Amino acid sequence: MGTAARRWAELQEGRGIPPEILAGAPALPWVHDPAAFAAPAVPADTPSRRAALALLGDGGTVLDVGCGGGDASLALAGVATHVTAADQQADMLAAFAADATARGVPFRTVEGRWPGAAADAGTADVVVCHHVLHNVVDLPPFVRALTAAAVRGVVVEMLAEHPMAWLDELWVRFHDLHRPPPATTDDAVAVLRELGIEPAVQRWERVQPPRQDVAWITRRLCLGPEREPDVATALDAVPARPREAATLTWRP
Ligand SMILES: C[S@@+](CC[C@H](N)C(=O)[O-])C[C@H]1O[C@@H](n2cnc3c(N)ncnc32)[C@H](O)[C@@H]1O
Repeated sequence: MGTAARRWAELQEGRGIPPEILAGAPALPWVHDPAAFAAPAVPADTPSRRAALALLGDGGTVLDVGCGGGDASLALAGVATHVTAADQQADMLAAFAADATARGVPFRTVEGRWPGAAADAGTADVVVCHHVLHNVVDLPPFVRALTAAAVRGVVVEMLAEHPMAWLDELWVRFHDLHRPPPATTDDAVAVLRELGIEPAVQRWERVQPPRQDVAWITRRLCLGPEREPDVATALDAVPARPREAATLTWRP
């Protein structure tokens, strides 16, 4: 493993939840709620969408890795001739399927964890992968499989730093857990370069995402619902969630 890939893995491992805290969690802290990832009816005009549309041209197939509710690929409806939606969470795929059906987008779903699911997913003209890299520890095989699946190009969207890093001071407050600094876009780009990929990098600001709800954050912090008032009070003192995002685009 190269230096950048090892650094990425170490930083990502530093985001884990220590077993003694996890053992006391009343509910699984990291499961994503499909309702929080529903694609908007009208897609936002973002650098990621523009990059994917440029690769699609007059049309082509799309593979959405870690699709969630389909924000990345359903934004390409009308130009994408077919979407393969891959995710490790069955309820996300169900939400995606319902929305794609409602929009008349031809699709199929692949349930599984990338890169293991790559064989089932096959190839597509354009591979999109939004807000998944920060879930990954071993980045090289994940990225290689994205590249291998793409005929024309790959579009990755990520936040400038780990999306949960803004809650680090709450881990200190509630668990006396001091986390190392989060992995950043620059750390991901360094891994890509180590793999011989030179991505085009566009940095931009997202429209302020809604503050994650207190119940979700409380569960994420491995605390029971009775602590929600404490978490709400603590959140008032936490700076707003950062908005800096990046779009990384490369050709296979
Ligand atoms: C933060 S959500 C982003 C969803 C969507 N791409 C978006 O931008 O709204 C991350 C999604 O990736 C999925 N995911 C995370 N790691 C994965 C992996 N290794 N393989 C497949 N899906 C993964 C999660 O289940 C979740 O649906």
